[in-house]
Amino acid sequence: MMEEKKNIMDYDTVSLDDENSAVVIIDQTKLPGTTEIIALKTAQEIWDAIYLLQVRGAPAIGVAAAYGIYVLAKGIDTDNYDAFYAEFKKQKEYLDSSRPTAVNLSWALNRMEQVVLNNADKSVAEIKQLLKEESVEIQDEDIRVCKAIGEYGLTLVKPGDGILTHCNAGKLATSKYGTATAPIYLGQERGYNFRVFADETRPLLQGARLTAFELQSSGVDVTLICDNMSATVMKNGWVDAIFVGCDRVAANGDTANKIGTSVVAAVAKQYNVPMYIAAPTSTIDMNTPTGDQIKIEQRKPEEVTEMWYKERMAPEGVKVFNPAFDVTDHELIAGIVTEFGIARPPYTESFKEIFAKKEVAQKNK
Ligand code: MRU
Repeated sequence: MMEEKKNIMDYDTVSLDDENSAVVIIDQTKLPGTTEIIALKTAQEIWDAIYLLQVRGAPAIGVAAAYGIYVLAKGIDTDNYDAFYAEFKKQKEYLDSSRPTAVNLSWALNRMEQVVLNNADKSVAEIKQLLKEESVEIQDEDIRVCKAIGEYGLTLVKPGDGILTHCNAGKLATSKYGTATAPIYLGQERGYNFRVFADETRPLLQGARLTAFELQSSGVDVTLICDNMSATVMKNGWVDAIFVGCDRVAANGDTANKIGTSVVAAVAKQYNVPMYIAAPTSTIDMNTPTGDQIKIEQRKPEEVTEMWYKERMAPEGVKVFNPAFDVTDHELIAGIVTEFGIARPPYTESFKEIFAKKEVAQKNK
């Protein structure tokens, strides 16, 4: 479905259609040139959309998976709980196999599964209704969490600051505000006049195609740079802080994010620029002790050799290494900004406080 031209910020990154029969997304592989809205109805369509990065960014993947499993569950044609759960589980595991690194995918799907398990005494029709409510809550929570991260992030910077970001941890990677961009958007509303540097983010250009696009569309002062220019802008003194997102944070603070993030962190250390990770607590995986245990997604060589080029830019047959993410050592991270405050090193300790606050907030709900 082609849409009439409106600001990209006016579209929902992910939503459920009115009939509750499809997950509706902006096809991010076509941005910024074309805004195409697509409706995903089958398990294959949802899996492909996540794998092909039509919907991407850890929180947005989680929301898409939650709506996706709801849509698929709604279509399971049985009143028998055991038969329903068996089919639900099969579809859940299939969606979960679409991308390995972003923990939000399995986190959201597990939350949905818990609804089925906790309500075994209810009818299948009632469980389907509860699944819808949970998926909507996952999205509403994403908006609240990003806003809170923005508020905490804003305390780390001051008006006029230069901020560098890598990949897209923006609105297009979430439901609203983004994570790494949340302080930027809140600052924009409050007249902070940040100067933002967006790394283009090879090989899939999420920084150029998505971050530069959404920030520019929002009136933020954004400058696009190639990935290999971040040292120059930092050396020039143009960057006061770095905010990036994350796909999985290990219990010791090691952080997996888009490939190239660890290079930015190493350069930031060289030039004394604080490196902050914007992390919803749903992305902190306390079951993964260190970054060494995080599974890094490997993607197709063509993404490096020809995708986005008019013609292939590498010799045929050349060996290609194309990991989608890298792990930034916790020692290079000045702070991890969550919706429950800013965790500081040592993260093994500060995460305990963050999760204690989360528990209290959940109890008081
Ligand atoms: O491969 P992508 O585009 O899904 O990678 C996205 C990132 O690395 C983001 O920084 C991360 O998911 C956080 S999004 C708020």
